[in-house]
Amino acid sequence: MRQRLLRRGHGQATGFVVTAAESEGLLDLATKVAVAAGRLLIGSGGRPEVVATKSSPTDVVTEADQAAESLIRDLIAEERPGDRILGEEGGEIAPPGGQGGRSAVRWIVDPLDGTVNYLYGLPDWAVSIAAEVDGTVVAGAVFVPRRDELYSARLDNGAWLSSGALDWRGEDTGSPVRLACNQDVPLAQALVATGFGYEAGRRQVQGDVLRAVLPRVRDIRRGGSAAVDLCSVASGTVDAYYERGVNLWDIAAGGLIAAEAGAQVTGLHGRPPSPSMTIAAAQPLLGELHDLLASTDPERDA
Ligand code: IPD
Ligand code: CA
Ligand code: CA
Repeated sequence: MRQRLLRRGHGQATGFVVTAAESEGLLDLATKVAVAAGRLLIGSGGRPEVVATKSSPTDVVTEADQAAESLIRDLIAEERPGDRILGEEGGEIAPPGGQGGRSAVRWIVDPLDGTVNYLYGLPDWAVSIAAEVDGTVVAGAVFVPRRDELYSARLDNGAWLSSGALDWRGEDTGSPVRLACNQDVPLAQALVATGFGYEAGRRQVQGDVLRAVLPRVRDIRRGGSAAVDLCSVASGTVDAYYERGVNLWDIAAGGLIAAEAGAQVTGLHGRPPSPSMTIAAAQPLLGELHDLLASTDPERDA
């Protein structure tokens, strides 16, 4: 069966055609590599050491982030040497030997989403790996090792949750459960996940926005991993998610998983999700949350 890739709010429509077998192959590799990196991360005992900071002193990198990304790059390159890989720590690297133009596939990788949770021994951190074909995300895997939860999705094939992935041997070990996000939740009853950036000026505005949102919803959750937040929308453990300042690697896999579970994943005013704003929920909650957020002019920094 051939699938026509359509605009779903998490990618660009290109008319590119990918076979089901091709997208299955990409998802298999994404899950295999995510589990291998998760094993590496969970295996490094003790409190991880901060080896660098990025946008601010609170935006930390540990040796584990770097080791996981390097493993992911090696494992992907071993099987698909012609693909491009965009990773949070190393940026976008074209394959060696000038093979950059040969493949339509780009991998989008956050080797460790939720680094601050990881640093403090909190369970909600994940490996997030998405495969994009000609600008459209067609497969995504988010592995949460400390919960032993593997979330995955292929475009037009639903979103799935498997447990027992730490024993993954290349075959299904458990029975994956199909995910469906919560429907028909009014804004006032909605449990809404969000996150904050690492820079003070951005946080100041995020605090202002939160002050407007908090009295209008059931409650807020700040889980500490955007990828896990999007999977939580998919599984219905929260009703909605919004955040300003996420990067493509934070949302590429989780965005597909939430969308395949029935959520809309979008930005403000009909724009696609982006660092400016990402919102995920089923309609009509998405519309209500969108309008509330838009009224706060959230896409600014102090
Ligand atoms: C962060 C997490 C966090 C979100 C931040 C991200 P990192 O990613 O996803 O939940 O609020 O915007 O930068 O730094 O842990 O990979
Ligand atoms: Ca991240
Ligand atoms: Ca990260």
